[in-house]
Amino acid sequence: MSEQLTNEQLIQIAQEFGTPVYVYNADKIEKQYQRLRTAFDGGRVKIFYAAKALTNLSVLRFIHKLGANVDCSSINEVKLALQAGFEPSRVLYTSNGIHFSEIEEALKLGVFVNIDSLYNLQKLGETYGGQYPVGVRLRPNIMAGGNLKISTGHDRSKFGIPVEQLAQLQDLVKTYGIRIQNLHIHTGSDIKDADIFIKGIDVLFDIIPHFPELKSIDLGGGFKVAYKEGDPVINIEELSQKVLAAFDAHEAARNLEIWFEPGKFMVSECGYLITSVNLLKETSATTFVSINSGFNHLIRPMFYDAYHRIENLSNPDAASQPYSIVGNICETDTFAWDRPLPEVREGDLLVFYNAGAYGYEMASTFNSRFRPAEVIVRNGKAQLIRKRDTLEDLTRNQVVVEL
Ligand code: LLP
Repeated sequence: MSEQLTNEQLIQIAQEFGTPVYVYNADKIEKQYQRLRTAFDGGRVKIFYAAKALTNLSVLRFIHKLGANVDCSSINEVKLALQAGFEPSRVLYTSNGIHFSEIEEALKLGVFVNIDSLYNLQKLGETYGGQYPVGVRLRPNIMAGGNLKISTGHDRSKFGIPVEQLAQLQDLVKTYGIRIQNLHIHTGSDIKDADIFIKGIDVLFDIIPHFPELKSIDLGGGFKVAYKEGDPVINIEELSQKVLAAFDAHEAARNLEIWFEPGKFMVSECGYLITSVNLLKETSATTFVSINSGFNHLIRPMFYDAYHRIENLSNPDAASQPYSIVGNICETDTFAWDRPLPEVREGDLLVFYNAGAYGYEMASTFNSRFRPAEVIVRNGKAQLIRKRDTLEDLTRNQVVVEL
């Protein structure tokens, strides 16, 4: 099992499947899952892969085969997970701001749902009473996460039922006989400090006694991985030790399952986006390298100021100089400014690392450009798992009318 694909493998994939192309190393996904399983040994921890990071069916099937459960963020993700072979009992739907009809649909499919508003909880009570046990997503009023756009637990966040509304929540539960089996929080993405989870646990522990039917506490995802050398990351082993100790020390929590929903931790580092250089442009400010991609393929740098390591696969041993890597769409789409890279020439292959999570998944057809192909590598063998878009894909759902 190899954690990293080699430059030679990536070049070969680019030659065989063309660029731009997303490549996922299944061996690395397995490794990350095993790390979680080893760290959270003992059976009381369940891992739900946060499918929103990467929903390709072949990836979902592989993660199912590894033995993980899956967390979904829309009814369509639920349907994709079921299509990929997940049994309904292994599917969680952590909903947010959705119409009640989606909750009904998920419940009828046999999927467990975390409800994130008093509004939908009331509808559930009115419609089904205690027929379907559910979870509730709470907002613990904790600031966490790599930047404000991916912070979800703070006191201005739209996510979850604010903990200060506990009394109203309890009223609904009592009025309708709603059965709450899971308490959920997810405070943000790119969390590097295990103590954030302990803070969340402290909030939840005060609430546990109010829910006698509780079976699990769901601490969400957000485990930070390294995007560049020296990046602080979450220490999974420390997290496990601290979380398990906290649960053991708290009488009312001792028999509860602990759930996590990692997305990035599972699939960020397995992924590569390989692109080709269209042209170079010298300016007084910088040397631009225009690649055959843009934020239509990888939006994270523009949207979150995210750093992605970039390498020149075609000329790795040349002397380095600063380049500004930009895309070819008609809007500013800077991937990196004055980044030192070995000499870049037209046609060179540039690869972006850590492109597995929220890469393809957030891609669009902006500028009517095609979304990339996707390829997966298992035990050294590369296979196409999604074709590049074609012009027919861009027009498929359009209805042309004469006006
Ligand atoms: N559970 C819930 C309820 C979530 O909302 C999320 C992510 C996760 C789990 C997984 O979080 P992760 O382990 O992947 O950090 N597009 C952004 C990240 C947005 C995360 C949204 N929710 C990015 O590319 O940084």
